[in-house]
Amino acid sequence: MDQHYEAIEQAFPELESIENSDFRDTVREAWAIAMADNAITEIEAVPWFPPVQRSLNLPDERLVPHIRDVTQGALALVESLKKRRSVTLSVDTVIAGALLHDVSKLYEFDGMEATTVGTLLGHPYYGVSVIAAAGLPVELAHIVLSHTHRTNIEPATLEATIVRQADAVAAAAIRAQADTDGNTT
Ligand SMILES: [Fe+2]
Repeated sequence: MDQHYEAIEQAFPELESIENSDFRDTVREAWAIAMADNAITEIEAVPWFPPVQRSLNLPDERLVPHIRDVTQGALALVESLKKRRSVTLSVDTVIAGALLHDVSKLYEFDGMEATTVGTLLGHPYYGVSVIAAAGLPVELAHIVLSHTHRTNIEPATLEATIVRQADAVAAAAIRAQADTDGNTT
């Protein structure tokens, strides 16, 4: 799996912002496990969300820039909040949650086609087992499960709320791009 470490670090420079080095390595490991499990060699080639891309006519949208949008948006929210109040949250958990919120898509899609995991479980339930397999805490599984309205789990922590909002904005930006490009929705 460690052959994927360099590609993961290059794809997600935000990993370096995780202060706890053991935690940072485990987040990287979760991505490495997901890549190895699905025989993915080009992380940059993984699509963002095939069924939505099809409906938006955006076949070239990729997962990596979306995850970076979400991570940087989440960090901007954290910084903005911290300027005016003493918020109690783990910045490391926000970054890790943002970086891993869509990791289950590697199991849900093979290129643009849904896998059995994607068909039978949908997005993002399998992410919980990826988090567990990497030995990451339940707070991260909660962020994964609550980041989208597709599950009935609502964010119960500030960290999860931040990631959900950052993801909603990042996804809306992709949809707005489809509108701008004049694609059919
Ligand atoms: Fe997302």
